[in-house]
Amino acid sequence: MKGIFITVEGPEGAGKTTIITKIVDQLKKENYPVVFTREPGGIKIAEKIRSIILDPENTEMDGRTEALLYAAARRQHLVEKVLPSINEGYIVLCDRFLDSSLAYQGFARELGMDEVLSINEFAIGHLMPTKTLYFDIEPEEGFKRINQNKDREINRLDLEKLDFHYKVREGYSLLLEKYKERMIKIDASRSIEDVYDETLQVVKNIIHTAAHNE
Ligand code: TYD
Repeated sequence: MKGIFITVEGPEGAGKTTIITKIVDQLKKENYPVVFTREPGGIKIAEKIRSIILDPENTEMDGRTEALLYAAARRQHLVEKVLPSINEGYIVLCDRFLDSSLAYQGFARELGMDEVLSINEFAIGHLMPTKTLYFDIEPEEGFKRINQNKDREINRLDLEKLDFHYKVREGYSLLLEKYKERMIKIDASRSIEDVYDETLQVVKNIIHTAAHNE
């Protein structure tokens, strides 16, 4: 069986990483062949690029440089990890992918969604996710959660003003319109348990539908 590629998206503090980590544990317990990875990062070279992009000291970084570095990290991660895993038949769950660049760099940084899409097409070719889970939360609510979680590292993008994060969310809502078939919105303002239950159902549906369509 050829694998499935599921990406996970959302603004800061939506809890997507917490939820998806629990989902991966559960799927593994049930013997689903799952690979969990994240962007930017996931492999050595991309982790190095990640540390440059997210370093809070790199305040002079230009927006296009930022977009190109995300795309470069994405390319290397795709070639080294995502594609081989899909080809081996794994269900690959990836914490952030293309839509993060479109929402953060394209829309919130105002580089243009089409421009950012075009540099990303160079990076990923035609590989689009099978499905994308979008965890939706009001930015103010998201930041309340982040401030309660003292262990979370604060990165350069977290330091952007609240306005920026409202724009990120607006960018994501445009993407939900544009990619209706691919993107599934999950209301992340509810309790972790409720969001988890819904997400597990959604992920299992995606897996079973893909198996059925083979
Ligand atoms: P991370 O610590 O992984 O944050 P989160 O837990 O919210 O995913 O940091 C990733 C940061 O990089 C996050 O602020 C979103 C941002 N980002 C972009 O701006 N563009 C991108 O293409 C990607 C993949 C991430």
